[in-house]
Amino acid sequence: VSKNPLIFHQLFDKETYTYTYLIADPTSKDAIIIDPTIDTYERDLNLIRELQLNLKYILDTHIHADHITGASQLKKATGAKIGISHNSLASGPDTFLKDGDQIPFGDRFMTALATPGHTNSCMSFYIDGYVFTGDTLLIRGTGRTDFQEGNTSTLYNSIRKKLFTLPDDTRVYPGHDYSGHTSSTIGQEKMLNPRVRLENTEEVFIQMMSNLKLDAPKRIREAVPANLKSGNISLHGKKE
Ligand SMILES: [Fe+2]
Repeated sequence: VSKNPLIFHQLFDKETYTYTYLIADPTSKDAIIIDPTIDTYERDLNLIRELQLNLKYILDTHIHADHITGASQLKKATGAKIGISHNSLASGPDTFLKDGDQIPFGDRFMTALATPGHTNSCMSFYIDGYVFTGDTLLIRGTGRTDFQEGNTSTLYNSIRKKLFTLPDDTRVYPGHDYSGHTSSTIGQEKMLNPRVRLENTEEVFIQMMSNLKLDAPKRIREAVPANLKSGNISLHGKKE
């Protein structure tokens, strides 16, 4: 029995190039938001209200280093539960997710996939031919592995042995894009991703990643501690 297509919104934060995703079941109007940012909280809450959605879960793909999560603010406004990987050491979430967990909304489920490597807490989320890959798999790129608990070999295996086992036509929606791309597919990334395409061995990937020499994210010192509390920073003089 085929269900109504999901309500799907891809939202962008131009300060940190972060994508936030709002997914809802059109029948029940139950919704899940993935990777909201504190800076786009009002925009996201307005959209949820305009569409008359019942926000059930707020999911973070990992403990972000580049922006503060909007999870706590959205929880206060909607009563939705915060979910993140059980590997995250966070103190704010209501639900700690494990690989394969099914997150219910309406009469549907979003499936949590453990995809560590960029951080230990990285998860991807799968539903109905969409996969939300956070900073694990980016369009023609990958998350970095040079801070937090980054591990290049672990990242390679999460992408090659987990994400790349999804059907080739699965649509890939990443946590960021810095060049204006909005989505890809597993099949395209297997062929075209310069870091993890099928012809690249793990040794090639490790070599590439060790040569990146990236600057630290500007906000890592404020973002990581705040995100370990699901962005609940009101006790510490939240930005006005
Ligand atoms: Fe990240």
